[in-house]
Amino acid sequence: MEKNLNIRYQEFENDTQLNALEKKLFAAASAARLQAYAPYSHFLVGCAILLDNGEIISGNNQENAAYPSGLCAERTTIFWTSANYPDAKIKTIFVVGAPENGETKFPTPPCGACRQSILEYESQQQESIEIYFASTSGIICKTFSVKDLLPFSFDRSFL
Ligand code: THU
Repeated sequence: MEKNLNIRYQEFENDTQLNALEKKLFAAASAARLQAYAPYSHFLVGCAILLDNGEIISGNNQENAAYPSGLCAERTTIFWTSANYPDAKIKTIFVVGAPENGETKFPTPPCGACRQSILEYESQQQESIEIYFASTSGIICKTFSVKDLLPFSFDRSFL
């Protein structure tokens, strides 16, 4: 029997369609992006995380001469958040990624390893995390759960 899995997401034409809080997160992720340490790929990514206490945490990608030792913006930010706010719930993650001097054709989505890391916290807190991903301009995508980016996900419920 063949089956279909649907994923749900929303598309914004550009940042003017975002509400005030979304604009604030976009601005925080964009500012963090400019401080990324990406001397090898020159692909800068910023991430902003909104907590249920209203605080916004931001971070960016950190590269390394031994390439695999570097880390994406999403994991840099979410690990720091969990390390420092272990009891807070993550409401929203906003990612902005683009080359140092340019933009991408499509918004930069979290990589597979970052999706799995986000899933860990979504499963643990038992509340969905909204994920926005964007380039420096153009359309912005929003999913309502990391499961929309990671269907057939493996989480703590299997263990
Ligand atoms: N990168 C991120 O930080 N997040 C993503 O979602 C995609 C990729 C980083 C990793 C590396 O530093 C650079 O972008 C190029 O892959």
